[in-house]
Amino acid sequence: MPKPTKRILSGVQPTGNLHLGNYLGALRNWVRLQAEYECFYCLVDLHAITVQQDAAALRASTRDGAAMLLAMGVDPSKSVLFVQSNVPAHAELGWIFNCVARIGWLNRMTQFKEKAGKKKENATVGLYVYPTLMAADILVYLATHVPVGDDQRQHLELCRDIAQSFNSQCGVEYFPLPEALILGEATRVMSLRDGQKKMSKSDESDYTRINMSDSPDLIAQKIRKARTDPEPLPGDPKGLESRPEAKNLVGIFAALADRAPADVLKDYGGAQFSKFKEDLAELAIAKVGPITTEMRRLQGDPGHVERVLHEGAERARAVADPIVRDVKEIVGFLRA
Ligand code: AMP
Ligand code: TRP
Repeated sequence: MPKPTKRILSGVQPTGNLHLGNYLGALRNWVRLQAEYECFYCLVDLHAITVQQDAAALRASTRDGAAMLLAMGVDPSKSVLFVQSNVPAHAELGWIFNCVARIGWLNRMTQFKEKAGKKKENATVGLYVYPTLMAADILVYLATHVPVGDDQRQHLELCRDIAQSFNSQCGVEYFPLPEALILGEATRVMSLRDGQKKMSKSDESDYTRINMSDSPDLIAQKIRKARTDPEPLPGDPKGLESRPEAKNLVGIFAALADRAPADVLKDYGGAQFSKFKEDLAELAIAKVGPITTEMRRLQGDPGHVERVLHEGAERARAVADPIVRDVKEIVGFLRA
């Protein structure tokens, strides 16, 4: 089988609301990259259950997550959109990678430390091996590129280490070493309430994030209430260096407008935040609003969303299954 040279895989957890950080850091790039790459996009429900989930809520948010991705512009005629657990090859390869990755490598993963918090002994084993499953997600398609936000950089390095280690242990050149695609002006969107913290689905306060499903009024209100400092905006990006909240808002503006931060500051240097926030709210509403509307329409047509996912899973299995078969042969498993 000829190996792909430009194949993408990426995933998003189907829990909670997708927010502007997800969109600007990753999902918008998923849509743009469809023109150039063969793309596989999945809702990673196996990853979601590394922390406790309510079954009915998980099912609903998986469907909603798919509707949101379609609303953003993931196009099933160009890309394969599916639910991770519908393709058993991910978990199978994940196990094999658990037998390649080293405990020392996983101990260095900062996301595990953040998510497990102080109660490390109480975290699930699944949360600990989360990155090996993520490597399997990518490599089970022999994907070469992975569009993600900046927070996934370390996981991508681990994925490359696993691929390299497997290849050298088995004396083959089977897996590619996938590259992270971390693109745009907002690869790490911060909380609207604290410029040192990432915008996140799991933050207790809803005012820290703009959800892609927020109404225009709520978006405007959240931006108006976003934390800032008392100084006016600087004339160039150097002036943002010790001002994390200002830097974040300028980054969001730049990403939404598809402009460089320096260019945005040419217009707003010396301006007060009140004026800037008003324009930012207008811009955010103009970009997010149509996506929300389309998402609501798709929520009213669950049959369509389910058909897309069903067909996506079939197409994904058709690619992943033969790759797992090859891997089993390489490892030395007796064929069924
Ligand atoms: P998750 O919601 O953790 O499954 O993340 C889905 C995608 O969104 C991943 O590629 C993340 O890197 C990206 N992402 C999540 N939060 C942010 C953020 N605050 N800024 C930029 N990208 C993000
Ligand atoms: N770990 C990613 C996140 O939290 C989600 C993810 C799972 C993923 N599998 C993936 C991203 C494979 C890219 C490729 O955002």
